Amino acid sequence: MIPATLHQLKVFETVARNGSFTRAAEELLITQPTVSSQVKQLTKSIGLPLFEQIGKSLYLTDAGRELLATCQDIFEKLNNFEIKIADLKGTKQGQLNLAVITTAKYFVPRLLGSFCQNYPGIDVALKVTNHQEIQQRMLDNKDDLYVISNPQTDIDLVTKSFLNNPLIVVARKDHPLANKKNIPLKELNDQPFIMREQGSGTRDAIYKLFAENNIKVKVKLELGSNEAIKQAISGGLGISILSEHCLISEGKSGELAILDFQQFPIKRRWFVAHLSGKKLSVIAETFLDYLLQESPKLTFPSSSILAQLSR
Ligand code: PGA
Repeated sequence: MIPATLHQLKVFETVARNGSFTRAAEELLITQPTVSSQVKQLTKSIGLPLFEQIGKSLYLTDAGRELLATCQDIFEKLNNFEIKIADLKGTKQGQLNLAVITTAKYFVPRLLGSFCQNYPGIDVALKVTNHQEIQQRMLDNKDDLYVISNPQTDIDLVTKSFLNNPLIVVARKDHPLANKKNIPLKELNDQPFIMREQGSGTRDAIYKLFAENNIKVKVKLELGSNEAIKQAISGGLGISILSEHCLISEGKSGELAILDFQQFPIKRRWFVAHLSGKKLSVIAETFLDYLLQESPKLTFPSSSILAQLSR
């Protein structure tokens, strides 16, 4: 057996994850010389270099990569063990790591609020990011659960669909099409358009519809946030296509309108997913059940508000 302590493995894993001795020291609240000496002792025990420094960058060697995978396995098992022990003691205690797609931020935090009240011993780390980054997080096995709107085909996932996620055309209230009904899709041609960034699932769904119907909008601006897009629409920069959930806080007096285009809404669904090989912790299973049970009870913009917005 290699005489490595858990502390040394933790220090090594933190350096490898951060790609830096300094950042690892900051994260672990220890000094950088302590980090260096722990990694040095571990390297000596293993008998092969774990890192390679090229210029300012730190790279893992083959031995380092093997050790990192082993460490991640050990820490995940220890974490699950702690959670199981807490569960046996009758308390649900531990950490839930969630990653959700941008638009899910309009409802997941609300669900988490009530979930955390029911389970005060559970700490949650919530990452909100776009489709492409979620995919990378899945490949890196970073989280327990993912809330996504179109499950990947190239990653082996267990998914459950739980809510509608319609995409709608949004414009400023004084837009010339705001009072029209059943607008033909070709009217989108040459409209100044505000598009989500590369890697966005919303963007992919929009371009799919455009390609199928030979629509060419004028992309005036690309923005990486739904909220920024709403502001740009209000500022008169153009129209966009967003998830209906983005209008959750819009009221009658808001500045936005839903345009009544043919072929809209684009019908999509929300899914909760996890890697198919992953054994869910008790905490993750508890949240999964909670999400499936409570999400149908969520109140979204009432149909009357949406009707006013789409007038
Ligand atoms: P996005 O995801 O934030 O990547 O656009 C939303 C979606 O796919 O519906």
